[in-house]
Amino acid sequence: MHHPRRRLRIPALLIAALSAAAALTAATAPAALAHQLISPQRQTRSQSYNGLALTPPMGWNDWYQYRCTVTEDDVLANAKALVSSGLARLGYRYVNLDDCWMAPERAADGQLQADPTRFPHGIAWLASQLHAMGLELGVYESFGDTTCQGLPGSYGHYQQDADTFASWGVDFLKFDYCGLPAGTTSASLEADYQAMSQDLLASGRHIVFSEELPIAAGDANPANANYLPYVAYSSQIANMWRVAPDLTTNFNSTIFGHLANDLPLASYAHPGAWNDLDMLLTGASGYNWTVQQQETQMSIWAELASPLIDSSDLTNMSASTMQILSNRAVIAVDQDPLGKQGQLVAQQGTVDVVAKPLANGDVAVLLANTSAAPQQASTTAQAVGLHPAGAYAVSDLWVNTTRETAGVIAATVPAESAMLLRVSPLPGLAAYAFPPLTDVSATAQVPPAYPGSQFEVAQPGQTVPVTAMFQNEGLAPATDVSLSLAGPSGWATGSPVSVGTVPTGQETDGTWQVTVPAGTAAGDYTLTATTAYNWGPRRTASESGQTEIQVDTPPAGTPTLDGLSWLSAVNGYGPVGINENYYGGPLSIHGVVYPHGLWVNSVATLYYYLGGNCSAFNVDLGLDDSDKGTGAVDYEFYADGNQVYNSGVVTNSTPTIHASVNVTGANVLELYVGEGNGTINYGNADFGNPQLTCAS
Ligand code: GAL
Repeated sequence: MHHPRRRLRIPALLIAALSAAAALTAATAPAALAHQLISPQRQTRSQSYNGLALTPPMGWNDWYQYRCTVTEDDVLANAKALVSSGLARLGYRYVNLDDCWMAPERAADGQLQADPTRFPHGIAWLASQLHAMGLELGVYESFGDTTCQGLPGSYGHYQQDADTFASWGVDFLKFDYCGLPAGTTSASLEADYQAMSQDLLASGRHIVFSEELPIAAGDANPANANYLPYVAYSSQIANMWRVAPDLTTNFNSTIFGHLANDLPLASYAHPGAWNDLDMLLTGASGYNWTVQQQETQMSIWAELASPLIDSSDLTNMSASTMQILSNRAVIAVDQDPLGKQGQLVAQQGTVDVVAKPLANGDVAVLLANTSAAPQQASTTAQAVGLHPAGAYAVSDLWVNTTRETAGVIAATVPAESAMLLRVSPLPGLAAYAFPPLTDVSATAQVPPAYPGSQFEVAQPGQTVPVTAMFQNEGLAPATDVSLSLAGPSGWATGSPVSVGTVPTGQETDGTWQVTVPAGTAAGDYTLTATTAYNWGPRRTASESGQTEIQVDTPPAGTPTLDGLSWLSAVNGYGPVGINENYYGGPLSIHGVVYPHGLWVNSVATLYYYLGGNCSAFNVDLGLDDSDKGTGAVDYEFYADGNQVYNSGVVTNSTPTIHASVNVTGANVLELYVGEGNGTINYGNADFGNPQLTCAS
C-alpha cells in the first residue's frame, strides 16, 4: 500500500535562519486525548486452564524459514543456536515443529509417525535431544482430516494423538484449522477444540495448547460475528490462539493489520491465555524488513503480550537479529508477571497510544504510527494509568535512553513504526538525575501537488521552508538551547540558531529556507533537525527529528511511461509489468505488440509527476492478449484530481481504444483501472505506447 508522503526534497540553502530568534511559543498544553477505552469483555476465567504459560511462550518455529523442507538437523542446529547465543537463557525455550513433520500415512495402529526421511530418528528422540539442552519441543497438528499441507489431520484421533505426543515427550501443540470435516458447524468446532484441550490434560503430560480456531473460522476480522465468541471461548480452553492471518512480506499492512485486530481483544489475555499475533520475523530471510521494522514488530508483540516465537534461521543469525531478539527490556514488557495485554488509550491521528500496566507499577507505552510521515504524539502519565508522582522516568527501550518528565509524554514517532517506552514514577529529587524529556520534530512545508493531493513534490531549485520544533516536558529547564538543521551532502542548510532557555512545558521553533540544489536526482531526501541544550549544572544533551523531501523532475520531450518512475503504484495483483505482461511475455492488444507500455491488473492506480510541463497523453488501451478470461476493466484518467478520460467498460471483445487526453498544466496524472462491469476475473489491462507530450 502506498501512503501519501509528506516529504520534501530540496537541497537546502539554509537561507534565513530562525529569524525571530526562536521566539518561545506558548506553553505546550497536552493535546486533548481522544479516549477510546475498550469496554471490558466477558471473561470468566482468569487462571491458566492447565497451569501452563503463565507468561507468553517464547521460542522458535521452523515455518517461515523452512516450510515443508524442514529436517531434524535444521531443528537441532537452531536449537543449538538458541542455547549458544544465550537466547534460551532469555526465555526462548520452545522449539516448535510446524506442519510437515509427519509422514503422509499413519501407522497400521493409527499412530502418527514422523516423516522417515526428514526426521529419521523420530520425534521422541528429538524431544530427548532438546530436553537434554534444557529446551522444550512443540509439534503441529490440525483439528480436521488433514493439515494445511494435506498430511494426516487429528480428526478422529484426538486422544490417541494427545497420548502419542505425551509419550514422545512433547511440550507444546499448535492445533491448526485445516481439513474441515464434512458437516462442521461453529458448535462442533468448539466441541472439537475443547476435546483436544481436554485430551491433552488427560494425557498426563504438561502440554501447552496453542490453537488457531478463531483466525480461520472467524476470518480474523473483529467485525465478523464469530470472531469474539471464538476468542472468548479460546481464552478458556487454550494457552494461546491466533488472532490474525499469516504474516506477509508487506510490512505495513501485515504488522499494523495485526495490531488493529488484536487491540480490541486485550481483555481476553491473562496469565496462561494469550492472544497470538503469529511468529516474529526478526532475521527471517525473504522478508528484508529494516531494523526499525523488526523492532516495531517486537515492540507491538511485547506490548500486546503475544508469544515471542521467532521463525528465522538462527544458525546464520546476524548481530542485529541477535540484538533485537535479546533486548531484555522489551522481553520484560512481554513477560511481565502481571500478565496484562496493552489497551488502546487514545488514537491521535495515525498514532495508536497503547498502555500496558506492569507488575511493579510502571506502564509500558506503545506509540504506533501507521502513516508514511513522522507524527507527533502526546499523552500523559495520568492518561496511561500511572499513579500520581512529581516526575516520571521515560525509558525508550530500543534507543536505551532514560529521560525525566513532569507528566507529559510526547514524542515524534517515525513513519510506519512504533516506539516502546517504559514509564516509572520517580521519587522526589530523583528526577534531576536524568535529562529532561524533550521532543524535536521537523516539518518540510512542500505544498501539495494540487489542492487536496496526497503528493508533496519539490523540484530541483525550489525553496522549501523547513521548521524544527523543540519542546521540553522535563521538570528541569533546557538552557543554552540551539537548533540546527542538516541535509544530505551538497545541500546547504544554514547555521544553528541559539534560542536561550526553554522551561518545562514550553516549546520553541525555528524555520530555515532550504533550496533543493539544482540537478538533484528524483528521490526522497532526509533532513535532520537537532537541538543541543544544557540541563542541570553542567550537563549537555541533544535530541533529533527528521523529515523527508520528495524531489522529482517533470518529464521533458515525448517520453513513454515505461521510462519514467511513478510517484506511486498500487496494482491489483503482482507488480506492474513494464514492457511485459504478467507472464513475462510482450504486451499485445488484438495482435498488436507494444514494445513500450505497462501491464496492470484491476483494480490499479498509478500516479505520475508531470510538474505542469506536459500538454497531452496518448495511449492505446485494451486487455492484454494473454488474458483469456471473462473479465472487464475500465480506464479512468485524472489530471490534478479532475477526470479527463473514462473509457467505459472494456472487455476482450472491445476493439483497441486510442485515448488522447489534454493534461495541460497538470502536476500529477493519475491512471486508474477499475473493474468495468464489476467482474474482476482476469482484469489484465494494457497501456500500449503510453506517451506524454511535454516541453523540452
Ligand atoms: C497455516 C498456519 C501457519 C502454518 C501453516 C502450515 O494455517 O496459519 O502458521 O502453520 O498453516 O501449513
